[in-house]
Amino acid sequence: MSTQTTGTIAVFGATGQQGGAVVDALLDHKAPVRALVRNPQSDRAQALAARGVELAAIRTDDPASLVAALTAVEAFYFMTPEANNLEEVETEIRIGTALVDAAVAARVPHVVFNSVFGADRERGVPHHDSKHSIEEHLRKSGLRAAMVRPTPFMEEMAPSLEHGEVVLRLPLPEDVALKMISVRDVGRVAAALLLDTAEAPGGAVELVGDELTGPQIAAAFGARAGLPARYEALPLSVLPSDLDRAMFRQFAKAAEHPSDLAVVRAIEPATLDLAEWIRSTGWTAPAGPGQG
Ligand SMILES: NC(=O)c1ccc[n+]([C@@H]2O[C@H](COP(=O)([O-])OP(=O)(O)OC[C@H]3O[C@@H](n4cnc5c(N)ncnc54)[C@H](OP(=O)(O)O)[C@@H]3O)[C@@H](O)[C@H]2O)c1
Repeated sequence: MSTQTTGTIAVFGATGQQGGAVVDALLDHKAPVRALVRNPQSDRAQALAARGVELAAIRTDDPASLVAALTAVEAFYFMTPEANNLEEVETEIRIGTALVDAAVAARVPHVVFNSVFGADRERGVPHHDSKHSIEEHLRKSGLRAAMVRPTPFMEEMAPSLEHGEVVLRLPLPEDVALKMISVRDVGRVAAALLLDTAEAPGGAVELVGDELTGPQIAAAFGARAGLPARYEALPLSVLPSDLDRAMFRQFAKAAEHPSDLAVVRAIEPATLDLAEWIRSTGWTAPAGPGQG
């Protein structure tokens, strides 16, 4: 593990999945971290503080709090919160825009935005197009910036165990290869960019650790469990939100575009493929119908 000499790196979303993984990777490199948090007293914020992370209380609707939290940092990572409807999409854009504007005001030397796969342009997926518009705002800000664009998280794959068989169901045709990445590796790649130990070719890295069809994903879990595995493609209508239906339509289209896993591995050579991720988590098949 290399030790960096670096100034403070600010992280927005540090109490969440991806921001948390960025903090893990930065602390592995002994980098000083300042977490921008809504509630410094929350259990998750306090757990960060116990690991040596400095806490800065912010509100995204209070620009002065953001500028103060970003003052004198060497680099800044931010993600934007999940949006499940169009109103939340507007909130997401507002938060992302406020964070960029604060980084400009605080003269942050280097910013990494956690966007999403395919956000190089608008694609008709509202909670991805929101990230495109934040990317555009960041690009126009004049800040030195890089985007990391994660594909769906391996952590989202949740097969069940039914009558001695591993069963995976997704609203995706069975011949479509889904691109995916582990949350750990989102953090590792973002940290490498923040620490300037790697560069994003063309200013953005599409984060793909593996690319597998539904039956192949099910088989990877089945192999780990030593059990037969089956994939069932569900109709898009099982998804409760228009946004998620648009997203899964886009996942099916994205399968047509080959992804360059080598770019990610050049930055993080230990990037996990799905089988490695399953092993690394110690995953075991959950108890299910017919398991007594
Ligand atoms: N799931 C996937 O497969 C996937 C793949 C690619 C991209 N994405 C994108 O990733 C994003 C979600 O990332 P995640 O899963 O890492 O998030 P997460 O675990 O839900 O964490 C959200 C973070 O944002 C903070 N936060 C939320 N609202 C805030 C507000 N109004 N003001 C200040 N802080 C706020 C939370 O802090 P508190 O502790 O204060 O709540 C927390 O640290 C979404 O934009 C999603 O579209 C998801």
